[in-house]
Amino acid sequence: MPDYDSLHKQSIDYPESFWGNVAEELLWFRPWDRVLEWKYPYARWFIGGQTNIVYNALDRHLKNNNADKLALIWASQDNQEKKYTYRQLNEEVSKFANGLKSIGIRKGDKVAIYLPRIPEQFIAMLGCLKIGAVHSVIYSGFSAEALKSRIEDVQAKALICSNAYPYGKKTVESFKNVKEALKDSKTVKDIIVVKRTETNIEDVDEASVDPKKNYRFHWWSDLVSKQDTVCSTAIMDANDIAFILYTSGSTGKPKGVIHSHGGYQVGIYYTLKVSFDIGSEDIFWSTADAGWITGHSYMLYSPLLNGITTFIYEGTPTYPDIEIWWKLIEKYKITKFYTAPTAIRSLMKFGEEPIKKYDLSSLKILGSVGEPINPEAWLWYQKNIGHSELPIIDTWWQTETGMFMINPLPYTKSKPGSAFKPFFGVDADVVDEKGVSLAPTKSMSSAPGASQRLLESSKNMGKQGFLVIKKPWPAMLLDVFNNPQRYKETYFEKIKIAKTKKQDSFSDFCYFTGDSAKIDEDGYFWIVGRNDDVIKVSGHRLGSAELESAFVANPKVAEAAVIGKPDEVKGESIKAFIILKQGVEPSDELKKELTLQVRMQIGPIATPDEIEFVEKLPKTRSGKIMRRILKAQELGQPIGDVSTLDD
Ligand code: PRX
Repeated sequence: MPDYDSLHKQSIDYPESFWGNVAEELLWFRPWDRVLEWKYPYARWFIGGQTNIVYNALDRHLKNNNADKLALIWASQDNQEKKYTYRQLNEEVSKFANGLKSIGIRKGDKVAIYLPRIPEQFIAMLGCLKIGAVHSVIYSGFSAEALKSRIEDVQAKALICSNAYPYGKKTVESFKNVKEALKDSKTVKDIIVVKRTETNIEDVDEASVDPKKNYRFHWWSDLVSKQDTVCSTAIMDANDIAFILYTSGSTGKPKGVIHSHGGYQVGIYYTLKVSFDIGSEDIFWSTADAGWITGHSYMLYSPLLNGITTFIYEGTPTYPDIEIWWKLIEKYKITKFYTAPTAIRSLMKFGEEPIKKYDLSSLKILGSVGEPINPEAWLWYQKNIGHSELPIIDTWWQTETGMFMINPLPYTKSKPGSAFKPFFGVDADVVDEKGVSLAPTKSMSSAPGASQRLLESSKNMGKQGFLVIKKPWPAMLLDVFNNPQRYKETYFEKIKIAKTKKQDSFSDFCYFTGDSAKIDEDGYFWIVGRNDDVIKVSGHRLGSAELESAFVANPKVAEAAVIGKPDEVKGESIKAFIILKQGVEPSDELKKELTLQVRMQIGPIATPDEIEFVEKLPKTRSGKIMRRILKAQELGQPIGDVSTLDD
């Protein structure tokens, strides 16, 4: 076991040489002139360098004899299977990329992808990057409304979607959402439709001939079958945009988080490699969806950058039955398995018997992401899935960070419930509102036997504060699309850095994560949760303001306030407090109507768990709803400072 702390210190003392060395493991069309430039509030990595994520994710493996290795295995929920070697995947991606070119998509154009978890979702993403187009993946569970607002914000020229798709017992007719979203779209000129099921074809066909439509229609199979299997990979500047992914923040409108080709690939490549001890024979299964950042970074791009096999299951954890995950691990000999605490907690309910039927001995490392993993779930995961011994890599990161930021390594000593320490090259801290560190000093642990004791308990905890990152890291977001002001305010203006801080080249760098955390005497980080108005439901990010605006879109609602409440399985559940317009009577019917309203505006993931009709909401004198007070009251906690409360 190498001395983690001294290796880590070296990496953050010399971030440029650290990340520069990592970047040399990848291919570049042109080497960079400078590793890093920081000019408040933007960090730019590998300046002058030219590359493309696809150049490293596909082309590199064709050159180094990995062409016939499996890149992607897809298992459908109805027992089909598709396997692609790196060569085959490259051919499919090239055909699709040529298809995009044939309809006029060029470098820098934005392409929206609204697909379920099928191989075309990944082929489409890679195809866009191959020609330098920018993809924006929209989660297939989002409603027509949510789809429309994202398409419009990103100004997508093309949309890739499916006619319908199976989801458990249901068939989701996603094309209906597409038609609705595109009704008066001024940006989308072409749509490419994958036929995933034999249902609702008439509906889709009708769209293809509808003279009123303002876009051209293509079936994916028709477009792609005409294309050549060779397509050159576009040469991109390291800081060119690879993709934009929308994520909820504390206002009503989701933010378009921008990631690059250069720094992003360096960060995600290396974090997976080291944290999951990647070897050439690995079969990596992330149960995420490409509609979220995990699906981008660690389901698709990083496994391919590392030249391993990524496994994708189309279905949910409980369909066709609650044993499906364990069955698939046995069948495909999965070696590294990465999932979310909410899934673990929901599968815990079924006990250990369903797992015991399967041989999970291929597994070597387990991972967790999306929300804090409670010690009980951690221990259950290790005991039952990890044969009581496998390392659990609890990875703390965000859409904005692009890559893992705080996580253990397979050989470091874990404390269930702690995400360990910052990754190499990541300078994280917990600070107060002036930027002063709240990390405890290491006094007690110098006593003989103390460190062992501390590893077992976490009593000697520093104060809770804001989790911040104090130096740039390569996969950090480039900006918020079309909203640099929001970028600056959200990430760099929340903490006023203390004047006493040492003046070095990064003295004005303090990235605000929006999370609260504590550090214990051993330097272990304990993530508490969000400190802004973002709610995490089953690991999915939803903004309170976004939910509230879905409620007030109903003409019977005057005002709404939404909070997250702790939930045993989902992490958080959604509770809404609603003031009705004068003359409107509260009723259970109305609760149902409002629930439906939110599902229509955002999607099923945003389904409220509780709705309470109230007469008044706590507000500041300037009229802002104080959700903090609602939450404290709801949970029976101290209300705290009420000096700004109006009434
Ligand atoms: O609150 C943290 C929580 O998820 C947020 C980021 O959400 P999102 O951008 O959707 O990305 C999720 C996948 C990376 C964080 O601000 N979070 C994520 N991972 C963890 C976590 N909280 C505790 N422990 C984690 N391992």
